Amino acid sequence: MTADPVLNAIRDRRSIRKYTGDPVSDDAVRAILEAGRWAPSGMNNQPFRFLVLRKSDPRFEALAGLTKYTHIVRGCDAMIALFLDKKATYHEQKDHQSAGGCVQSMMLAAHAMGLGTVWLGQMMNNAPQVLEALKLAGDDYEFITVLTVGHPAEPGTANRKPLEEYMLEAF
Ligand SMILES: Cc1cc2nc3c(=O)[nH]c(=O)nc-3n(C[C@H](O)[C@H](O)[C@H](O)COP(=O)(O)O)c2cc1C
Repeated sequence: MTADPVLNAIRDRRSIRKYTGDPVSDDAVRAILEAGRWAPSGMNNQPFRFLVLRKSDPRFEALAGLTKYTHIVRGCDAMIALFLDKKATYHEQKDHQSAGGCVQSMMLAAHAMGLGTVWLGQMMNNAPQVLEALKLAGDDYEFITVLTVGHPAEPGTANRKPLEEYMLEAF
């Protein structure tokens, strides 16, 4: 534990897959989206596009059926779907790297507000069906992922290898 809230959030954020069902306010969702907006991108091309799906939206249940993690989706209060706008992209690898940073920023923002998220990358296996369910053209948008958002019902448990195992050379 350090005294710095950013460093603590980076370390303490865990994926949350069970939610209490308490509502997540529009203000909180907006703050998460703002964090995504301020993510870095190559040449500052800002190719990210967001779609917020609430439980009352028929598309919410459609997406729940497009992942093996249906139970996680159904338990969350809101989903944030992230896309790349193909008109704004410029380099496949760098745009995907930017998207990863964008998701991380949104997850950290949620964590900072006491909310839990999980990055549902598995839904990407059904990317064409996701675009179809959302009536988005594949020529215009690339589906990146969905982030589920809710109030945590339990803490996350994941751990990490010691830093030495990440290092190519001793530091
Ligand atoms: C690219 C990516 C895809 C992921 N896809 C899924 C997923 O489909 N379902 C899921 O439950 N977690 C998914 N996760 C969450 C990881 O399982 C999680 O980040 C990892 O186990 C470490 O746990 P932590 O986030 O609690 O530190 C994904 C994470 C990333 C970065």
